[in-house]
Amino acid sequence: MNKGVQLYEGKAKKVFETENPELLIVSYKDDATAFNGLKKGTIEGKGVINNRMSNALMQMLAKKGIPTHFVKELSERDTLVKRVQIVPLEVIIRNISAGSFAKHYGVEEGIVFDAPTIEFSYKNDELGDPLLNEYHALALKLATKEEIETIKDLSFRINEALKEFWLSCGVTLVDFKLEFGRLSDGTIVLADEISPDTCRLWDSKTHEKLDKDRFRRDMGGVEDAYREIMGRLEKQIGG
Ligand code: TMP
Repeated sequence: MNKGVQLYEGKAKKVFETENPELLIVSYKDDATAFNGLKKGTIEGKGVINNRMSNALMQMLAKKGIPTHFVKELSERDTLVKRVQIVPLEVIIRNISAGSFAKHYGVEEGIVFDAPTIEFSYKNDELGDPLLNEYHALALKLATKEEIETIKDLSFRINEALKEFWLSCGVTLVDFKLEFGRLSDGTIVLADEISPDTCRLWDSKTHEKLDKDRFRRDMGGVEDAYREIMGRLEKQIGG
């Protein structure tokens, strides 16, 4: 499958058409941004890691009955995916307080919740991805009531599967962001990526950050953290 016309270039990926109208190729870049693109940089080797990690996790989720856009890994950075219409909602699931949750509610990071939380933001860079609730999403016609129910159900199931997997790697899944898409027949599937760019991943024992927070917060050791987390995943799946 060859890359055709470039459809879109995002902050971390490019998307290309293929000869099959139902399939696209996503190509992962090393570019990193934070704070809605205000902070820009490069994380050497990130594209290769995020591509392989996202694909491995999506295949693991598929085995557990979660529908995803993943079709086939084509190369180090390129993956064939089903063409979807992205639902313009960013879904954030949290197991432990961190980031904007800690900031909004004035609590420390690291508080373990009794039950996971879910929140939505409107995927719109110009507006800075504002937070919204289900009623707002319906009012803005971003998704139907049924689609939102499906997205919530899938997101919590994904959380359970990912939490268990990362725990087996000695890693605590703190929080993460998901995006979903509609296939041409309307089926909702998991899309975008699951990677250290979109998850907070802490070493279970030391709580060392093994994710993009090292870039967001200028902590250093960014590349090492991405390599470490990828190494843990590969050891676990025997890659
Ligand atoms: P937050 O604490 O900044 O709201 O982030 C929650 C989770 O969502 C964290 O794992 C990082 C991820 N995330 C993204 O993937 N993209 C984004 O644009 C933002 C703001 C967060």
